[in-house]
Amino acid sequence: MDKPYRRRDLLGIRELTEADIRGILDTAENFREINAREIKKVPTLRGKTVINLFFENSTRTRTSFELAAKRLSADAVNISVSSSSVSKGETLVDTALNLDAMQPDCIVVRHGSAGVPHQLAKVSRAAVVNAGDGANEHPTQALLDAMTIREHKKKIQGLEVAIVGDILHSRVARSNIHLLTKLGAKVRVAGPGTLVPKDFEFFIDAGGGDERSLQVCPHVEDAIQGADVVMILRIQRERQDSAYFPTLREYAVHYGLTNDRLDLAKKDAIVLHPGPMNRGIEIASEVADSSRSLILDQVKYGVAVRMAVLYLATGGSAN
Ligand code: CP
Repeated sequence: MDKPYRRRDLLGIRELTEADIRGILDTAENFREINAREIKKVPTLRGKTVINLFFENSTRTRTSFELAAKRLSADAVNISVSSSSVSKGETLVDTALNLDAMQPDCIVVRHGSAGVPHQLAKVSRAAVVNAGDGANEHPTQALLDAMTIREHKKKIQGLEVAIVGDILHSRVARSNIHLLTKLGAKVRVAGPGTLVPKDFEFFIDAGGGDERSLQVCPHVEDAIQGADVVMILRIQRERQDSAYFPTLREYAVHYGLTNDRLDLAKKDAIVLHPGPMNRGIEIASEVADSSRSLILDQVKYGVAVRMAVLYLATGGSAN
């Protein structure tokens, strides 16, 4: 039997077992209620220190990690690359060693290069949590997506999930493929030919190397047909080093989620998007603002998931 989740670092969903994932999600369920209280604070992490080290922009992830730490009474410090000595030429490892010397309990890191959290975890005594590393993984995003799906569908096992868009550059897609296939969902991916990896190794590496659990569809409509969950990915222009499609207008016409395309999914299908969304490109406003869209629920559950991750990373036990 799998041991309960009790790990120092959270580097990716790839490293987690199904039991680990369920343990984090169940712990997050317990923390959820705190966020609905008038006084949103408990002493669980009093005396602990969390450093948020963000080398890339973020609205949702950084704010929710900070809120999560503060609602658990930890001290939270935010460092962005523009205000750190990285801009003076300090290496990543030296930055990590210097922060670690201040004896934090947890360092939450986002970086544009894959593998940076793993590098930090090797030199740091503090627990390291990956808040997104290049196109590799974004584990807390997949966890909050799973919490949103569980809340609305009451299960993940057996669900059909369409992931649509820029699969190639998406750490959200990778983490979700790992998580959803580990929890027994069937995942279908689709997007422009240039943005869906041809190399099946990519998908094996992303945890979905089994055609019963992961299918690459030639058309967006094939992926959405009959889906319980439609997850739309952002066009990641900051990670695209060449033109992957002619124009944004053409992208919207051929791959954007409109009401007509969403009608192909099950009647009670839900729509997810990790944000920030490009309205009118990968998702039409008519869908983003509809009752089937759970985009703001995802953001809401992100705080509870990050409370659970910080609690477990700093020595707490899963339920
Ligand atoms: N989903 C997500 O990672 O959003 P931010 O870039 O705003 O953190």
